[in-house]
Amino acid sequence: MDLTNEEKRILDGREGEPQRLALHVLVKLGEACGAERMVEIASAHLVASSYQIAGEAGIDIYSQLVAQGARVKVRTTSDPGSIDFVRWREFKTPAEYAARQGKIAELLDQMGVIPTWTCTPYTTFNVPRFGDHLGWSESSAVVFVNSVIGARTNRLAAYVDLCAALTGRVPCFGLHLPENRRGEILFELTPDLCADFADHFFPALGYLVGQTVGDKVPVILGLSRATFDQLKAFGAASAASGSVALYHMVGITPEARSLEEACGGRLPAERIVVGRREIVAVMEQMGAAAEGPVDVVGIGCPHASIDQMRRYAALLEGRRVHAGTELWVCTNVVVEEMARKMGYAQTIERAGAKLMVGTCHNDCPLGAWDFRRLVTDSGKFAYYTPTTVGTECVFASTEACIQAAITGKVVRP
Ligand code: F3S
Repeated sequence: MDLTNEEKRILDGREGEPQRLALHVLVKLGEACGAERMVEIASAHLVASSYQIAGEAGIDIYSQLVAQGARVKVRTTSDPGSIDFVRWREFKTPAEYAARQGKIAELLDQMGVIPTWTCTPYTTFNVPRFGDHLGWSESSAVVFVNSVIGARTNRLAAYVDLCAALTGRVPCFGLHLPENRRGEILFELTPDLCADFADHFFPALGYLVGQTVGDKVPVILGLSRATFDQLKAFGAASAASGSVALYHMVGITPEARSLEEACGGRLPAERIVVGRREIVAVMEQMGAAAEGPVDVVGIGCPHASIDQMRRYAALLEGRRVHAGTELWVCTNVVVEEMARKMGYAQTIERAGAKLMVGTCHNDCPLGAWDFRRLVTDSGKFAYYTPTTVGTECVFASTEACIQAAITGKVVRP
C-alpha cells in the first residue's frame, strides 16, 4: 500500500504501541482487500462494546491498550452493551455478568469513547455528513449512514473498528470507492403494493431484499416517500437477513435521485418484481402466521426514536400489559430522557412495559426468563432472536405487537 509519511511513522512505533498495532492490522486488511491507500475518517463506531461480543478476550485487549496509553483519535461511540446499566437487576442479569460489562465501560471510557450505548448513534453525538469516510461497525448503523446519509464505510468487524478509532483511518476499498456504490440488483415494487405500503412492510421488504442480494447493492424502485424510522427498519432487516451495507431507494436516498444515478448510469442486469404476494410470503417466513400465547414482546430495534416512543405511548395509553407477558421497549439514554420529559416514558411504564436502555434482547443474557415465543415488529429481531434468545419469533406490525402484549397472545392477521 502507498502509505503517507505520517502512516510510516506510526508503523515505526513513533506514535506509541497501540497506534502501531492498530495500523499494522489495518494495513494487513487493506493488503488482503486490494486497497492502494488509507483514507482518513471523520468518526468510528464500536460494536465490541458489548460484553456478549467482546467477552474476556476483549477485556484483556482493552486493558493492555489502556495500560499502553491508548486514546481514540476521532469521535468514537459505543454500540449497545449487554446490560441496561440502571435496570440490569430487573432484567435478571447475573451480577458478575453486569460487573464485567461495567469493566468494559470503564476501559472504553479511559480510551475516550463516548458512551452512547446505542445502535443509532447517527441521531445524536455521532452524526456523519454526506461524503464523510467512516470506520463503523454495527450492521444496522452502517447500512443507515451509507444509504440514508451518503457517508462511506465498510461493515467493519469488531476490533477492526477500534483500530480505525485509534488511528483515524481505514484502508480505502469497498464502499469507500464510488464505483462500488452503484446499484447492482433492481427491486421494482408493483403499483398496487406501493399504493398501500404499510409501515411494517418496510422491515419485511428489507428482509426479502437482504436474503436475495447477500452483500450486493440493491436498488428499490416504486416508493415515493419513507420516514427516517421506516428507512432505519428496512436497512436493519436487510443487513440481518443478508449483508447489505448500502441500498438505494430511488427518489428517497441521496445517491439515488434517479434510477440512472442509483445505478451509476448502467442499469442492473438483474430485475426482481415485488408485489403483495411476495411481501406476504416473506412475512410468513418471519413467523407472521403463528398464533398463541406470547411471553415477550420486543419493540425498538434498532433503538426507538422519540417519534416511535410517542407512538408506543399513544398505543399504550390507559391500557395494561397482560400479567404473563413482558413488553420491552429498547432505546438509548438520550431518547429515554427526552421521552421522560415529554411524558411518553411514564405512559409506557404505567402500562406495565419496561424500557430497556442502552441494550436490547439480542445483547442481554436472558436465560433466566425461559422465554418461548417473542413477538416483534423488527426484521432484525425476527432474524436473530431464534438463535440469540432461543425463542420462536413472530413478526407483526407495531400495533399488533402492542395488542399481543395487552392480550398475552398473538393472532394471525
Ligand atoms: Fe440495535 Fe439490538 Fe436491534 S443492537 S439493531 S436493538 S438487535
